[in-house]
Amino acid sequence: MKIISFEGIEGVGKSTQINLLQSYLEKQDFTVDVLREPGSTTSAEHIREILLNKENDISKETELLLMFAARSDLINKRIHNNDSDFVLLDRYYDASIAYQGYGRGIPLDFIENLIKLIQCPKPDVSFLFDLSVEDSFSRKKLDVKDRIESSGNSFFERVKNGYLEIAKNQNERFHIIDATKEINEIHNIIKKVLEF
Ligand code: TMP
Repeated sequence: MKIISFEGIEGVGKSTQINLLQSYLEKQDFTVDVLREPGSTTSAEHIREILLNKENDISKETELLLMFAARSDLINKRIHNNDSDFVLLDRYYDASIAYQGYGRGIPLDFIENLIKLIQCPKPDVSFLFDLSVEDSFSRKKLDVKDRIESSGNSFFERVKNGYLEIAKNQNERFHIIDATKEINEIHNIIKKVLEF
């Protein structure tokens, strides 16, 4: 089983690329499981609703711990013992480093310890879709913003730059993709990285 994670701020085109890659892999007779974080188990979807509901006033520590509660459930129920050829993850633990670490200011070593505590399997390959915060917001301007999306431009600047930092520090695993490129061009880059 290979784990491939897709990271980036909102509106960068992760879901589109995950769908394209899933169809491509399935056409080649591979089995593929697509999971999103937070979510993809019954309990984790409940936690997702708490995290994204704008009416909930929750601290950054609560936010971090809820992300990891959802993640732990996902790992136990859908990642360990997953017998698909590929697991495609729409965000994973790097998102907690970017959003709760760089974005909200929680110490990174604390988050690294949580990653170790719940024994997150490491992705084989991670793609970071890089896009300016301005472009990201303009792509999503018709959507109603959830609680995290309402965190403001400077928060998202820190998250975007944090993601770049994470990707540069782990360049054996991460591939940074210019998310302003055409959909098919990005799909081809992804196939090339995965050697298909
Ligand atoms: P989305 O799946 O609709 O993009 O919403 C998930 C939101 O949760 C998104 O704003 C990113 C955020 N998030 C974190 O803040 N930390 C995390 O660890 C993860 C996985 C997501």
